[in-house]
Amino acid sequence: ASSKCRYKYEEYKETVDWLLVQTNIRPKIAIICGSGLGGLSDLLYNRTVFLYKDIPHFPQSTVSGHAGELVFGELKGKQCVCMKGRFHFYEGYDTPTVTYPVCVFFLLGVEILIVTNAAGGINSNFRVGDIMIIKDHINIPGFAGQNPLCGLNDERFGVRFPCMSDAYDKDLDQLARQTAEEHGCANFLQQGIYCMLAGPTYETIAECKMLKLLGADAVGMSTVPEVVVARHCGLRVFGLSLITNKVVLDYSNDERTNHEEVLETTRMRTEDLQRLVCHLIEKV
Ligand code: 6GU
Repeated sequence: ASSKCRYKYEEYKETVDWLLVQTNIRPKIAIICGSGLGGLSDLLYNRTVFLYKDIPHFPQSTVSGHAGELVFGELKGKQCVCMKGRFHFYEGYDTPTVTYPVCVFFLLGVEILIVTNAAGGINSNFRVGDIMIIKDHINIPGFAGQNPLCGLNDERFGVRFPCMSDAYDKDLDQLARQTAEEHGCANFLQQGIYCMLAGPTYETIAECKMLKLLGADAVGMSTVPEVVVARHCGLRVFGLSLITNKVVLDYSNDERTNHEEVLETTRMRTEDLQRLVCHLIEKV
């Protein structure tokens, strides 16, 4: 974990220059779609679609059912770029690879990053199917030396010691709240703290209790590295977690978190989530 595994500025630049030749879209907004939430990219019009494997230096998707497409296009009149399928640490990518696309977005001229994910609900007020605006995060892999900004700092992206107390944009939060009201999503809208664990295992009961004590409202296996890198280079960030299941917090509960349940809830709410993001984009 040294400067060796960071990508060079020239590599990001080559990716960006290649993309800019292939599309006329000049996105100010980037969207990273969580597992099962990639349908958003289908709503873009005037589309240019790239497979990750065709983009110079871009990380390759593993065979996990994640699509692996970078889609440029317009949504509600706004030029956007959308990642259908993200890179997860648990798949074996190091954090600079997980966040490679975010640096590309920055060099493309993107100013706002919207991230979505599926997460387990820890807050006892949350119900399966709720959508949580991410107010803040806890970066557990970061505590364990897996912060994507470890290694030499390139000042062309940002400062050595970036502030994280303003990670999630308050104005976008406000706008999203208003949007939810207007589109009948307010009754399942929540806000809270997203805690990232490396995965791929779900949490033990003791770990869930610990996360609750730490103040986490939801737990997942993504998003935080991308947000850290986005803030490093000054992008405004907005994040949504879809609460796909409730974590198990007591030993008398025989429920078990499983991927099928997660996928089922994702299917149930994916259109609401898309609607929310679309109308938010309309307003920014
Ligand atoms: Cl319960 N835990 C984690 N780590 N990720 C999840 C989840 C739970 N539910 C959806 N994603």
